[in-house]
Amino acid sequence: MSVNKEIKRITTNTIQEMKVRGEKISMLTAYDYSMATIVDDAGTDIILVGDSASNVMAGHETTLPITLDQMIYHASSVVRAAKRALVVVDLPFGSYQGNSKEALNSAIRIMKEAGAHAVKIEGGVEIAESVSRILTAGIPVMGHLGLTPQSIYKFGTYTVRAKHEAEAQKLRDDALKLQELGCFGIVLEKIPAKLAQEVSDSLQIPTIGIGAGQHCDGQVLVIHDMLGINKGFKPRFLRQYSNLYDIMHDAIKNYNSDVKSNSFPNEKEQY
Ligand code: KIV
Repeated sequence: MSVNKEIKRITTNTIQEMKVRGEKISMLTAYDYSMATIVDDAGTDIILVGDSASNVMAGHETTLPITLDQMIYHASSVVRAAKRALVVVDLPFGSYQGNSKEALNSAIRIMKEAGAHAVKIEGGVEIAESVSRILTAGIPVMGHLGLTPQSIYKFGTYTVRAKHEAEAQKLRDDALKLQELGCFGIVLEKIPAKLAQEVSDSLQIPTIGIGAGQHCDGQVLVIHDMLGINKGFKPRFLRQYSNLYDIMHDAIKNYNSDVKSNSFPNEKEQY
């Protein structure tokens, strides 16, 4: 008897079914082949090639500088690694705000050149036309509401969004609009847990929270943050699952010391 070892790919339908079953959805970022291999192999449902690559990979202060070409480079490496996870790729700042045709062209490039499975886009009703046009081309879209880092210069701060009723109501309206347009999920970033619960309960599509409490249908973290590679970044919402900065630092220090003392390579490590 042959054993079927084929890995079943997570699709946007799987994500929808998980919401219906009340099964939580796990999402993590990855930006390169090696990290994405581990993230995928560990059973993560969605890999997000986030524009946070601008911060953690390139060292920029914000997500604004990363280009569409750079996102496609990161995404194509992740797609080659992901055997099971759904790969969602951020539309970077400047690649969709101009008009809906530009948005569609950017999404098409991400799907065609990187082989991504879906795109994510920041914003609500103001980008409805772009979201609709991308969806019409058969490209699955994930929304992103609350703290939308591409608007950091408008917000002026990375603190919790939608604490006041007017902004909370806009978020509710935006979420419903994104669902109505056909988005398959929405990231809710840094909003009060009570509001995130209300929005999650009111939607048929799943919400994925980051700093939005335990009632979202899934959770997402930036991989460098949850692994403790970013030493100084410790917001309240972040659970750090490892301390890779120190682990890697010690390993590299030991290597340097072994090279300098001529204890690496030894006789067994040469030809
Ligand atoms: O770019 C990113 O990593 C994101 C997550 C924080 C949701 O958008």
